[in-house]
Amino acid sequence: MTSYRELGLVNTKDLFKKAVSGGYAIPAYNFNNMEQMQAIIQACVETKSPVILQVSAGARKYANQNILRNMAKGAVEYAHELGYDIPIVLHLDHGDSLELCRDCIETGFSSVMIDGSHLSYDENVALTKKVCEFAHSQKDYVTVEGELGVLAGVEDDVSSEHSHYTQPSEVVDFVNKTKVDSLAISIGTSHGRAKFKPDQCTKDANGILIPPPLRFDILEEIEKEIPGFPIVLHGSSSVPIEYVQLIEKFGGKLSDSVGIPEDQLRRAAKSAVCKINIDSDGRLAMTALMRKVLAEKPDEFDPRKIIGPARDELKKLYAHKNQNVLGSAGQA
Ligand code: G3H
Ligand code: 13P
Ligand code: ZN
Repeated sequence: MTSYRELGLVNTKDLFKKAVSGGYAIPAYNFNNMEQMQAIIQACVETKSPVILQVSAGARKYANQNILRNMAKGAVEYAHELGYDIPIVLHLDHGDSLELCRDCIETGFSSVMIDGSHLSYDENVALTKKVCEFAHSQKDYVTVEGELGVLAGVEDDVSSEHSHYTQPSEVVDFVNKTKVDSLAISIGTSHGRAKFKPDQCTKDANGILIPPPLRFDILEEIEKEIPGFPIVLHGSSSVPIEYVQLIEKFGGKLSDSVGIPEDQLRRAAKSAVCKINIDSDGRLAMTALMRKVLAEKPDEFDPRKIIGPARDELKKLYAHKNQNVLGSAGQA
């Protein structure tokens, strides 16, 4: 049993409280390898932003839980070495069982998500409550994120073609019964790089897809139901067109890519939304830069020269998000 405090990590409790009252959101960046972790920490130290290092069940399988735990410890030491001790959370993304959440908590995670959004309401309540009871009874309190409403797209092994918006009338009952510390909601975001079908979008003069706006009316209703309660947005990559075009220029095929516009995420971050999940944009940035190097330097075979530029681009992307989208820069 390893407690997250031994690794130098923090839970989300104080971070969310400050973020809700301060009108910004904490970045939750997915990672599964060293270069992503380095880029996240470099960007968050440079912009003095708190950060949530987020691990999906798939990432945990890919990288091994002991390695990830030690990478999170390494992240804390790396930030210190870079000259600024930012708060770092190690969070399980889309946990689907009590066993998985328990395993993560016992190996040093400071926060877990239990995603019962695909279950019936009563089953979601029962599962989320069990995870909260376990997480909250630890010597060092572990925070829990629940989810109400379903996002379209792929969530690890679970995929859903259609989204179901969160029903504001269910929120108070869910929070009271489960005792979750934060709640992921569905207001029109979705996972992956193609968040909407082309027929759900309009097009600008250059033929670029423009997505339908987020349902801020639902977010406002939820905030009225449960004022100041920490809200989480999944599926919040913006899918920058420059990366999509770079990938396609160098041989990739990513048709119908469309994300959530940055101005809408900025607006959400000013509300009770205090955690914004971003994975796909990191994947796009890395792939774009790796494809570019491989295409432009066919004689290159040192992986450091291929992944290194991708890491630099990732750092720029994360720093930009902290500064201009989430508003978390300067809050650590
Ligand atoms: O919400 C899903 C995340 O983007 C994680 O994706 O399960 O492929 O690691 P993954
Ligand atoms: P994106 O696919 O939009 O990056 O969402 C990631 C996410 O929600 C991880 O939980
Ligand atoms: Zn998600």
